[in-house]
Amino acid sequence: MGKSQELYKKAKKLIPGGTQLFSKRPEMFLPENWPAYYSKAKGCEIWDLDGKRYIDMSYMGIGACIIGYTDPDIDKAVKRAVSCGNMTTLNVPEEVELAELLIKLHPWADMVRYARCGGEAMAIAVRIARAATGKDLILFCGYHGWSDWYLASNLADDKSLDGHLLSGLEPKGVPRALKGTAIPFNYNDTQTFLSLINKYKGKIAAVIIEPIRNKYPSSGFLEVVRNESRKAKAVLIMDEVSSGWRLCVGGAHKLFNIEPDIAVFAKAISNGFPMAAIIGRKKIMQNAQDSFISSTYWTDRIGPAAALAAIKKMKLNNIPEHLNLMGMKIQNGWKISAERHSVDIKVDGIYPLSHFSFNYKEPLVLKTLFTQYMLQKGFLATNAYYASYAHKEKHIEVYLEAVESVFASISKALKKNRPELYLKGPVCHSGFKRLT
Ligand SMILES: Cc1ncc(COP(=O)(O)O)c(C=O)c1O
Repeated sequence: MGKSQELYKKAKKLIPGGTQLFSKRPEMFLPENWPAYYSKAKGCEIWDLDGKRYIDMSYMGIGACIIGYTDPDIDKAVKRAVSCGNMTTLNVPEEVELAELLIKLHPWADMVRYARCGGEAMAIAVRIARAATGKDLILFCGYHGWSDWYLASNLADDKSLDGHLLSGLEPKGVPRALKGTAIPFNYNDTQTFLSLINKYKGKIAAVIIEPIRNKYPSSGFLEVVRNESRKAKAVLIMDEVSSGWRLCVGGAHKLFNIEPDIAVFAKAISNGFPMAAIIGRKKIMQNAQDSFISSTYWTDRIGPAAALAAIKKMKLNNIPEHLNLMGMKIQNGWKISAERHSVDIKVDGIYPLSHFSFNYKEPLVLKTLFTQYMLQKGFLATNAYYASYAHKEKHIEVYLEAVESVFASISKALKKNRPELYLKGPVCHSGFKRLT
């Protein structure tokens, strides 16, 4: 695999773990054969270091680029920010404009703080909640980043985070003193949530959930979480880092008429430029002043300029509607092709964040084979599809044509009983693993 894999081999000697983001590890897709690096990107197309072009039908910047790569409108705003000076001794006025816009979109919120990444923004939200309540304990559901407060959950039980998006996360380096400070519950599991609320009465600083991820909330679940958090005098934090902006312009919680105390945005808010926002009620947010929450690059101009341009474009073009439509076509296409070739798959996820799994003894072999065959046809593809405004009907059509023939090949490989024999490299990884 040419220059990219050569460079990745070198990277693994220089950069522990090879990359800065676990989800960008080539081993997660197609070990030894994934085009690990890109030279340029446009819309939903990416060119690797050997000049080979692919259509990205996988994660589109790991969920950040819902408008598309190098979008002219966002890039124009960013270039303007750069030419006006991205960083000075004074503050950028865009921070205030963005705060007003976020509060207008979410009238329950009064104040806003900024960061640049999802994980750090979540850590800020947790700090504010602990400062506001004077309590330590966090009840949470879902994945919320790499911080100590979150990984602490695996100090008590090293499998505690396994049902929450990323399995196998190691809490090494997290102070053991944090054991017991973060307790997980599963989405839609109202009974467990209520029993935790009861068990830890008087101790809970915050309840943290994604309003939606793979499935829609079951009837009453979010309402119970909202009401019980209030009764427990715990701050309800909605992590909209991945759910935000995809189902509607703003947080997905708007759709469910649930008003949290804090909501956190990152990733898609700025279509690929670092930006994160923590919005919340005044009484709670004011506590940020009593703790020390401060960092130089949380003040740059590119972040808010990109966010303002991205939100404007999302509104103008009703981008969530497009994402839903594209996701629906992909989910239907997967189902039809799989059925036609008797490949047993389970399709899941909300339309903008679609995925499927192979119902076989060795699902990872088939997942790797899918990626291998799709790559040969010019697609970056895995068993997930994150919709982007850059995906148009023509991309969906050519992608589904390719899926049709790849499922036919997988069906043939399955009939021969040893699908692994068709792989050109190792099987992909599923959870967190140390790289040798
Ligand atoms: C729900 C959620 N919260 C937090 C994060 C962490 O965001 P970041 O990778 O920007 O630190 C992610 C990343 O995937 C996420 O999906």
